[in-house]
Amino acid sequence: MIISCYISIGLAESPLRVGFYNTTCPDAESIVRSFVRDAADFNPRVPAFLLRLHFHDCFVQGCDGSILIDNGPISEKLADGHQGLKGFDVIENVKSQLEFVCPGVVSCADIVAIAARDAVAFSFGPFYEVETGRRDGFVSNRSLADTMPDFRDSIHLLKHKFFEKGLDEKDLVVLSGAHTIGTTACFFLMDRLYDFPPRGGPDPSIDPDFLPELLETCPPNGDINFRLPIDHNSVETFDIRILENIRNGFAVLQSDAKLMDDSVTKGIVDSYFGFSNRSVKRPSFEADFVNSMVKMGRIGVKIGPKRGEIRRVCNMFN
Ligand code: HEM
Ligand SMILES: *[C@@H]1O[C@H](CO)[C@@H](O)[C@H](O)[C@H]1NC(C)=O
Ligand SMILES: *[C@@H]1O[C@H](CO)[C@@H](O)[C@H](O)[C@H]1NC(C)=O
Ligand SMILES: *[C@@H]1O[C@H](CO)[C@@H](O)[C@H](O)[C@H]1NC(C)=O
Repeated sequence: MIISCYISIGLAESPLRVGFYNTTCPDAESIVRSFVRDAADFNPRVPAFLLRLHFHDCFVQGCDGSILIDNGPISEKLADGHQGLKGFDVIENVKSQLEFVCPGVVSCADIVAIAARDAVAFSFGPFYEVETGRRDGFVSNRSLADTMPDFRDSIHLLKHKFFEKGLDEKDLVVLSGAHTIGTTACFFLMDRLYDFPPRGGPDPSIDPDFLPELLETCPPNGDINFRLPIDHNSVETFDIRILENIRNGFAVLQSDAKLMDDSVTKGIVDSYFGFSNRSVKRPSFEADFVNSMVKMGRIGVKIGPKRGEIRRVCNMFN
């Protein structure tokens, strides 16, 4: 069990390339960008939708667009672990424009990856070169999403689920930093506020100055669909405030709070703040986030016509 925790996937060499569509569809990335911009202008929640969508795509069957498929009651997207996902319409609109401009060339999995990159940039986060060349997978099955990281997981289990995808503790910490943008439904807070294991009552790691606000926002028997920012007082911009909040007992999601339960992940969170050893350079959250996004974007990618296709529409196999 412990041993299996440390299986790592060879991520060092990637079959993906920056600018994979340079010659076959030179406007691919700018088309994605303009659709993401328009959608975000219309609905400011869109960048968060798109960033989360890439994570959920990559963690089940690899980054292969499996999350986008509508294949009836077994559709992967119906899995409990994917609750609240949105942004499918944006991906579908980009796809139909790309099919018009360069039919059969750009995969849906790549559209999701490019859109996530742009979502971060539009939220004043770091811009990075996104690798492309993924093909779209042939499988969508909700039971394959049973191993999605869950908001109630222990830090040990979260680490294990990331290790299984070839991601380490640093990836877990900085990718959880994606919660710097976006909101959560009260649904995901109810246990944390009223029935936190093992003793029940509120999670003792919530700062006493923050608890009353959370209790008021998500009252018992209140509307579980009511949404609140995940990054307290800093929801619109992509910044390190999320890690500061996590460190200070102002985490909203319990999985974020649990990053402080483990000496390794806690040490990584701490490394971005006050330094005792002045000769060690403070790491950059933005630079580390970009590294981890590129790593996540390589999980289980499908290369070659046997392993994947270029879908004509993103919610259906060809
Ligand atoms: C470590 C394990 C993780 C857990 C347990 C987790 C859990 C959650 C939960 C419960 C929500 C609220 C969903 C809702 O109410 O609609 C959420 C939102 C979000 N998550 Fe995560 N997450 C994790 C990691 C990540 C990663 C790696 C990313 C991206 C790199 C990410 C990006 C987001 C974003 C952007 C939102 C806001 C969505 C919105 O505003 O609609 N999360 N996450
Ligand atoms: C595409 O063009 C960019 C910018 O000129 C370059 O950095 C990249 O290596 C090119 N990629 C491929 C696969 O040709
Ligand atoms: C879905 O996956 C599960 C677990 O791997 C498998 O038992 C089941 O047969 C699959 N269902 C379909 C329709 O492929
Ligand atoms: C500070 O960090 C450097 C480089 O890792 C190390 O060589 C040095 O011993 C550290 N100093 C203290 C006081 O911990």
